[in-house]
Amino acid sequence: MEYKELGKTGVKLPEIGLGTWQYNGGTEPILKALSLDARLIDTAEMYGTEGMVGGAAKGRRERLFIATKVSGNHLRYDEVLRAAEESLKRLGTDYIDLYQIHWPDPAVPIKETMRAMETLVDEGKVKFIGVSNFYVKNLEEAQASMTRHKIVSNQVKYSLLQRGIEEDTLSYCQENHITILAYSPLEKGLLVARPTPRNKAAISVLQKMALETGKTLAQVALNWCISRPNVIAIPKSDRAERVTENCAASGWRLSPRQLDALNRAFR
Ligand SMILES: NC(=O)c1ccc[n+]([C@@H]2O[C@H](COP(=O)([O-])OP(=O)(O)OC[C@H]3O[C@@H](n4cnc5c(N)ncnc54)[C@H](OP(=O)(O)O)[C@@H]3O)[C@@H](O)[C@H]2O)c1
Repeated sequence: MEYKELGKTGVKLPEIGLGTWQYNGGTEPILKALSLDARLIDTAEMYGTEGMVGGAAKGRRERLFIATKVSGNHLRYDEVLRAAEESLKRLGTDYIDLYQIHWPDPAVPIKETMRAMETLVDEGKVKFIGVSNFYVKNLEEAQASMTRHKIVSNQVKYSLLQRGIEEDTLSYCQENHITILAYSPLEKGLLVARPTPRNKAAISVLQKMALETGKTLAQVALNWCISRPNVIAIPKSDRAERVTENCAASGWRLSPRQLDALNRAFR
């Protein structure tokens, strides 16, 4: 497993983590991820999976790096503090490694939300502050309203089929030491499913790269994501054997020619 620094924190995270939206795999896949050094586990108050993550963390809390989220409809000062307390309870822990704002709410002044996030860090309940689904303007406003801490990550949709962040969010985050946590990196399984008439030509290039490298489609798709500086991918799987497969997307690199072929096929 290769690692990437979280923001400028000095904390090294595996470049493949485990997502838990619609996760129903119990403890085993999480422990499998942990055994392969993929200790970054992503959850959220709205996923209903914090209890499962907390169960897996029991007796080994410090080995996991738990990222959870406050929902975008709980962004008032008191609501953020309350949501964090409830997440801590469900996770069965006294600290959250990375606390993320799930999505921005234009109806709540960002300054109010970030004040609550900074309070949580000051109280030791949160180690690092992250956001999710933030564009450059949201990131600039959020960081400008903070007085003591930095935004260290932005969790956004990024896969071969969804490259919108390449417009400006990716470069902004790279320049500002904000780690990208790429969600739906397998496009919810679409990249590894039977091709549709629309994506058949592009998927055939993915298949060719899998043949050339001796890797699976999922491994090539994930490797393409993490070949970008500053990008960590958080695929979800309920199955320990797929967690093993996905973790093996790290530790090697597609060649510049292979990356270029994929970039052109999935433009
Ligand atoms: N911040 C946000 O707004 C946001 C939004 C969406 C997702 N997320 C986060 O990102 C995580 C990942 O995204 P996602 O769950 O949307 O989609 P994903 O990781 O792109 O795809 C998950 C799907 O792919 C299948 N899969 C996983 N590994 C596979 C493999 N090696 N071969 C074949 N199929 C495989 C899974 O099935 P099995 O489980 O049956 O293996 C599941 O159906 C989420 O769990 C969540 O933590 C965040």
